[in-house]
Amino acid sequence: MENPSRLILLFFVLIPCFFGLNFSAPAEFIHSSCKVTQYPALCEKYLSVYPPAVHRSPSQLAKAALNVTANRALAVSNFIKRMPASGKDPTERKSHGGGAVRDCLETLNDSVDRLRRSVTEVERMGRYGSRSFKWHLSNAQTWVSAALTDQNTCLDSLLQDKSAAGVRVPIRRQIVAVSQLTSNALALVNRLDSRN
Ligand SMILES: *[C@@H]1O[C@H](CO)[C@@H](O)[C@H](O)[C@H]1NC(C)=O
Ligand SMILES: *[C@@H]1O[C@H](CO)[C@@H](O)[C@H](O)[C@H]1NC(C)=O
Ligand SMILES: *[C@@H]1O[C@H](CO)[C@@H](O)[C@H](O)[C@H]1NC(C)=O
Repeated sequence: MENPSRLILLFFVLIPCFFGLNFSAPAEFIHSSCKVTQYPALCEKYLSVYPPAVHRSPSQLAKAALNVTANRALAVSNFIKRMPASGKDPTERKSHGGGAVRDCLETLNDSVDRLRRSVTEVERMGRYGSRSFKWHLSNAQTWVSAALTDQNTCLDSLLQDKSAAGVRVPIRRQIVAVSQLTSNALALVNRLDSRN
């Protein structure tokens, strides 16, 4: 009775239960949801900041994952724009603005646009199993897959463009991270279709 740990238990476990709250649930939900993705640690890292907003809803979580990915793609695009050219030589500076770097900025711009469209599609899904649900789910899957293709186009272009040698490694690292987030977001979107 006098044991203070009982009071602590009462306060932190029983009282929240009484009010129907479960403070551990959002993190647990994100952890188990991220298990379906190819990069679960990355998934948790980016989504764990969201718990209050995602409310155990698979579609809210998918939306958050898509939005996080769009924001990341935009940040990488700004990172590339701000990158100093690989050398002081004006010809190198010029080549920095062309070829693969230009392709990557273009494909990132498309990626941001497609990921934002997919957020809208998930918002419009409506009731699970309805015709509208299937239509918007399929649109979201199409947009996210297209964003992945864009990112691969950038990676291919970086490999082929000799003039991009000086900036290839840092750009590649950032694009690969965006691709991993995109792949995770696609897995969370695909999962919306497998509810039974
Ligand atoms: C809270 O939710 C998690 C995951 O759903 C569950 O494992 C845990 O037992 C719950 N805790 C309480 C006190 O209900
Ligand atoms: C997406 O992220 C941006 C930037 O953090 C935020 O302002 C916006 O509200 C988010 N949108 C959704 C639908 O989550
Ligand atoms: C993408 O490019 C278009 C046209 O150049 C521009 O209007 C738009 O703001 C760009 N989007 C982003 C996210 O930079």
